[in-house]
Amino acid sequence: MTDKGKAARDLWGGHFGTGPALLMEQINASIGFDKRLWPHDIVGSKAHATMLARQGIISEADRDAILEGLDEIAREIETGSFHFDPALEDIHLNIEARLTEKIGDPGRRLHTARSRNDQVATDFKLFVRAATDRAIDRLDRLTNTILDMADNHAATVMPGFTHLQAAQPVTFGHHLMAYAEMFMRDRRRFADARLRLNECPLGAAALAGTSFPIDREATARALGFDRPAANSIDAVSDRDFALDFLANAAITSVHLSRLAEELVLWSTPQFGFVRMAEDFTSGSSIMPQKRNPDAAELVRGKSGRVLGHLQALLVTMKSLPLAYSKDMQEDKEGVFDAVDTLELCLEATAAMLGSMRVDAARMRAAAGVGYTVATDLADWMVRVKGAAFRDAHNIAARAVKAAEARSCDLHELDETVLQAIDPRLDGEVRGLLRVDASVASRTSFGGTAPERVKAAVAAMRDQLAGLEAGR
Ligand code: ARG
Repeated sequence: MTDKGKAARDLWGGHFGTGPALLMEQINASIGFDKRLWPHDIVGSKAHATMLARQGIISEADRDAILEGLDEIAREIETGSFHFDPALEDIHLNIEARLTEKIGDPGRRLHTARSRNDQVATDFKLFVRAATDRAIDRLDRLTNTILDMADNHAATVMPGFTHLQAAQPVTFGHHLMAYAEMFMRDRRRFADARLRLNECPLGAAALAGTSFPIDREATARALGFDRPAANSIDAVSDRDFALDFLANAAITSVHLSRLAEELVLWSTPQFGFVRMAEDFTSGSSIMPQKRNPDAAELVRGKSGRVLGHLQALLVTMKSLPLAYSKDMQEDKEGVFDAVDTLELCLEATAAMLGSMRVDAARMRAAAGVGYTVATDLADWMVRVKGAAFRDAHNIAARAVKAAEARSCDLHELDETVLQAIDPRLDGEVRGLLRVDASVASRTSFGGTAPERVKAAVAAMRDQLAGLEAGR
């Protein structure tokens, strides 16, 4: 056994006679990934030691040695001179062993009134809380990018689809604002989860609390929590905060993936609505004309990982008896990957949107294809001529047939043809059968009319400013 292995056995109280076999070390060690928690482990230990001294549980001299030792360890890790040892299992034991190596006895007192169970729950919460704040920041930046674009394209006409069939003309600004709504809900979901997360597990100890006169309010406050978690068993067995994060990340990823899918479609030569900046595309080694939207495809593809991580942690947790079980060590890698993936995809999406070129002329040309203003004809029959909508729908369908037969647009049908379909169809209606007139008429609240889009952009800017100020 290595010296560090012996040290680990020592920390466990020495009842592992022969020490962990290599396989046990491999399956048991989490240091390979949980080293990422080190800054949180150090602030958590500093808050704990400070509280222990204030409560007279350790001496002030011990506290000072511990705080100084932990600061030095932080510097060692930052500068890369710290040796992470798998024989010491995880980040908590690695740091504690090094502390004792450096300062001796006081290091051995740090773990008073604490267990790795409340320690890891605290570290991981601090990590997820910081990741939540970054996700909110990036969502706000993405939303701001979309708001600027929507403002610029409030009157840019494009086809709106249902069933991916041309349905009715809409404005590009309005279509973009649909995504802004999604990302606003996402940021609110993260902010809401942060409120639930912000209770401190530290002091729950192994599961039952402790006989030492600790001050849980003090450690909670020192670590920026709103309050200590109320039940010690829940505090060490709860991973809802990680599930909340993953669920929120999964929903956000679905939104990012849907947007990415549209970017992929829109950037095909067949659509030609947008041209992605060269930085976010790749060529083909064999087909010289190709420009593949790789970044958008990867945003779409990476969503699968985030959805998978949510599923994985739900399954890991679902049959665990209270309180802590080692299964819970499996909570970290998926969350770490989800955090990294989400941050990258949020940034890449904002950058792709900000740098792509929009071909408004192509959008406008496509907006009228497929008789997308047929509904406008039917609505006019109802509004102006008092027809019942079902009859008006019929009349509009016949007009579409007539236009198809003549390979022309609805507004190009001449008056005699219109009159033959229905005598109430006079030439006046033709002025309405244009994509611009169509979108301009959709002035209902939440509708696609340019003035509505402008108002929606302004309203969301206000909301966002309020939310950002309230953080
Ligand atoms: N590395 C462990 C984890 O991530 C720390 C908690 C270990 N607790 C225990 N009782 N063995 O879950």
